Amino acid sequence: MDNAGGNPTNGQGNAQKKLRSRAWFDNPDNPDMTALYLERYMNYGVSREELQSGKPIIGIAQTGSDLSPCNRHHMVLAERVREGIREAGGIAIEFPVHPIQETGKRPTAGLDRNLSYLGLVEVLYGYPLDAVVLTVGCDKTTPAMLMGAATVNIPAIALSVGPMLNGYHKGERTGSGTIVWKARQMMAAGEIGYEQFIELVASSAPSTGYCNTMGTATTMNSLAEALGMQLPGSAAIPAPYRDRQEMAYRTGKRIVDMVHEDLKPSDILTKEAFLNAIVVNSAIGGSTNAPIHINAIARHIGVDLKIEEWQEHGHKVPLLVNLQPAGEYLGEDYYHAGGVPAVVNELMKQGLIHENALTVNGKTMGDNCRGREIEDTRVIFPFEQPMRKDAGFVVFKGNLFDSAIMKTSVVSQEFFDRYLSNPDDPNAFEGKAVVFDGPEDYHHRIDDPALDIDEDTMLFMRGAGPVGYPGAAEVVNMRPPAYLIKKGIHSLACIGDGRQSGTSGSPSILNASPEAASGGNLAILQTGDRVRIDLNKGEANILISDEEIATRRQKLEQDGGYKFPAHQTPWQEIQRGIVDQLGEGAVLRPAVNYQRIAQTNGVPRDNH
Ligand code: FES
Ligand code: MG
Repeated sequence: MDNAGGNPTNGQGNAQKKLRSRAWFDNPDNPDMTALYLERYMNYGVSREELQSGKPIIGIAQTGSDLSPCNRHHMVLAERVREGIREAGGIAIEFPVHPIQETGKRPTAGLDRNLSYLGLVEVLYGYPLDAVVLTVGCDKTTPAMLMGAATVNIPAIALSVGPMLNGYHKGERTGSGTIVWKARQMMAAGEIGYEQFIELVASSAPSTGYCNTMGTATTMNSLAEALGMQLPGSAAIPAPYRDRQEMAYRTGKRIVDMVHEDLKPSDILTKEAFLNAIVVNSAIGGSTNAPIHINAIARHIGVDLKIEEWQEHGHKVPLLVNLQPAGEYLGEDYYHAGGVPAVVNELMKQGLIHENALTVNGKTMGDNCRGREIEDTRVIFPFEQPMRKDAGFVVFKGNLFDSAIMKTSVVSQEFFDRYLSNPDDPNAFEGKAVVFDGPEDYHHRIDDPALDIDEDTMLFMRGAGPVGYPGAAEVVNMRPPAYLIKKGIHSLACIGDGRQSGTSGSPSILNASPEAASGGNLAILQTGDRVRIDLNKGEANILISDEEIATRRQKLEQDGGYKFPAHQTPWQEIQRGIVDQLGEGAVLRPAVNYQRIAQTNGVPRDNH
């Protein structure tokens, strides 16, 4: 089966519109500049004949490097992409993009998504590129690349690097990230020592590739396919598999045809495509980072997508994919069970997918996925017998924040039973707030008996948003104090203005917007306050009077507002000044004013 689809075409003879790269390499109005451009790219090893032959020039946006181990395999895959591009009559030009390694970058990789985005926009617009292959994988690389392609709007196709192989420890599957959160509890309870902690965590990462759980990486790669931006079946193939190399080759071939067809992100990233992504996200048990990134991509392509739509379209969708942290399996199993096409096919049978949404292979989502049946029902459940009903996000609002989300698919029955134990009020719970200002404060004090944390307490994390942290760190998932874990209490309600790792199964209400540092009421919450959460109404309220709220706000303002750490780099300062809140995608506000710039702004001026 040829997943690449589309029309076989080559660089010559088509009644096609002029390629933008011709403005560099074949510009009769300014031949001396043409010579200057030609000379240096010929120097790189492409002949003048080739550069002037009218072949499309395809960028390969390389996100892999030694600093970015999750995406490093793209350095190998890029060779196959190049072969595909050449085979189809294009010229490949690979270039590096700003690295974003989720686990390596401090204070958080969240700070770098928008920086990488900006860099990509500048490269795609300012160089002689007719199209681009986006090498995606580790959490923020996927949204950063899609956001950049959306802003510039030249033909673009994503290629996932693929998940790592399954991790195992003593015969049990150990999933990336998820095992860290579990081992952290085991160590706190004294069940394992530090050496075993490291051993367990390392076992979850046995090969090249991205996190093998349904964390943010698997989520965002699956959603890139659900959006139509990857070839069908591409997202789930494990990084070291032969099929992954083959997919790289097909992706390279296909992007050349996309240039001839003038198939651009704006043709694919329609409102319908985003609604498909929301539905698929619920069915796969996707990460709480998905709304941030998907909403950001929507804003850059100019599609109106509100945070409330995640609940409206996604909440009632059941969980089908049995991957950690919501379930038990890992990336290899997901691939063998049919990956994204099998999930989409299940949802399609229920009329939940916009089947006419166009995808990068030139065919519709419906045509790509129809009949792609589940191949292992232990890993992907049929829609009629789902793992869990109503698995999508609930969007909360109230006097603490305007929006925050909860991923219901990971919340245990034990948790619901414990918090929702009042027979007179079965959908709401009240509890005492214990407030932490940043993760250092939490690590320092969580086991302090003076906090008097019990099983009904709610843990709050603030100062962790796009401005406060800065960059919005994944720190809202907090473990209970060790004395509660020893009593069998493995989770407390966590609420915060930061994010949490997609690999975490913590029952949290997070991404709260506006954050404490941007005027949100989390800033006036005090340890000991009572907070009420109503799951049915989607409300989270601090139980104090409006007068008390006003008094506390006044006091906060007199004190100069919520305090957050000083800027440490120029980018921290620049981004803090222009970044939006998590509910709005945490985009750079001025960047949203630039839409489809390859069409609206033509090509840039000559450089000499
Ligand atoms: Fe890179 Fe999870 S840390 S994919
Ligand atoms: Mg993470």
